[in-house]
Amino acid sequence: MGSKVSSGIGGLDSMLKGGFPEGRAILVLGEPGTGKTILCAQYLYQGVKGGDRAVFVGMNEPKDRFLSEMLDLGMDFAQLEKTGGFSYVDATEVRRIPEQARVGRIPVGGRELGVVNLIDMIQESIEKVKPKRIVLDSISDLIFRFPLIEDRRPVILDLVEAIQSSGATTLMTSELLSTGDERSLQPEEYLSEGVLLLRTLRKGGRTVQVLKMRGSDVDTSPRPYSIKGNGLEIYATEEVY
Ligand SMILES: Nc1ncnc2c1ncn2[C@@H]1O[C@H](COP(=O)(O)OP(=O)(O)OP(=O)(O)O)[C@@H](O)[C@H]1O
Ligand SMILES: [Mg+2]
Repeated sequence: MGSKVSSGIGGLDSMLKGGFPEGRAILVLGEPGTGKTILCAQYLYQGVKGGDRAVFVGMNEPKDRFLSEMLDLGMDFAQLEKTGGFSYVDATEVRRIPEQARVGRIPVGGRELGVVNLIDMIQESIEKVKPKRIVLDSISDLIFRFPLIEDRRPVILDLVEAIQSSGATTLMTSELLSTGDERSLQPEEYLSEGVLLLRTLRKGGRTVQVLKMRGSDVDTSPRPYSIKGNGLEIYATEEVY
């Protein structure tokens, strides 16, 4: 069995029997507001504190907003950036590329251009920072622009490949589209090496579940968690009712 990389959250490490498998791309799938961004931030923050270099590629929010939201939760990323070891890549512009874009005078598909730009940004930051940990938050807007599964697959594969070439252990977030027992699997679930699912139960309460983690023995039961002033707390020994 390969080595594990701590998730930065004690309860999650217990569920993962040590942490994420090193060098893999893991999907953090969840409904809006379930804590995907915070979970990923904790993963990077604890990692950098422990001496790993890290990159956060943010497609949902500009850097300032990320820094201040995480500071509210006790994570001072600005400080980590100053001392080195952490870099925030603002990729919000990728979403703003119109469907019909131009390179010079030449019309090009905006959604394809968005993917190429993002992969460029990721590769550039990998060369500069040489991270051990990467977060991509989130891939939804980008991949949902490709409604056909056969178009979406190569986009996800190219993204995963670009990241994996770095050897970094990566978390990618994506929005959960349907819920319930008969929900349809999303292509990014097939194409990631591990999947964490974050849910809000109808009666309130939150659950986290490891849906898959290739090559690892993990706890696949849903476990309760809460979000507090210092981030996610996961109760790895408690049952969900
Ligand atoms: N200081 C805090 N104390 C308690 N809970 C908080 C605090 N800050 C944020 N939260 C909770 O965290 C949630 C947001 O977390 P986060 O932004 O990580 O979710 P997300 O899954 O990334 O959402 P989105 O889908 O909108 O990107 C909020 O719904 C809120 O309930
Ligand atoms: Mg988010």
